Amino acid sequence: MYCISCKDKEYPWKTIYHELDREIFQEDGRFLEIFQLWIDPGYRRHGYGTQLKRFVEDEARRHRVNLVYTHTEESNQHVIDLNLKLGYKEVRRGPIWDEITRVSLIKYIK
Ligand SMILES: CC(C)(COP(=O)(O)OP(=O)(O)OC[C@H]1O[C@@H](n2cnc3c(N)ncnc32)[C@H](O)[C@@H]1OP(=O)(O)O)[C@@H](O)C(=O)NCCC(=O)NCCS
Repeated sequence: MYCISCKDKEYPWKTIYHELDREIFQEDGRFLEIFQLWIDPGYRRHGYGTQLKRFVEDEARRHRVNLVYTHTEESNQHVIDLNLKLGYKEVRRGPIWDEITRVSLIKYIK
């Protein structure tokens, strides 16, 4: 799933957007956030997760946002690897709404 979020907006749930440098966001603060990426266990390692992430990059272009944000638990190294392979870079590591350490990653979309 994804949504278009805004760095400068207040959300009823805890976010860490305010901790990230303002300069990484486009002027209006909007960006696309990916969450709950899930592939049926019988179809993993066939490139579908990669295809979905690339599809969402097109959605970012369609919504005129230049940045995709995602986070995952630090223990999900394979998810971090998937993102790094796709050109994401780590911008934060730490707890967000509970004690679990999560890794925040971003990718600029051209
Ligand atoms: C994470 C998930 C979406 C990946 O989907 P997928 O379709 O298997 O991913 P892809 O086939 O596109 O994998 C791309 C690359 O990511 C890495 N990767 C993905 N799953 C991996 C695994 N289990 N172990 C190691 N590397 C893995 C590999 O580098 C892989 O490339 P390769 O297969 O050529 O080695 C899937 O494993 C899943 O649904 N997991 C459970 C839910 C979850 O953890 N979602 C993320 C929440 S933040």
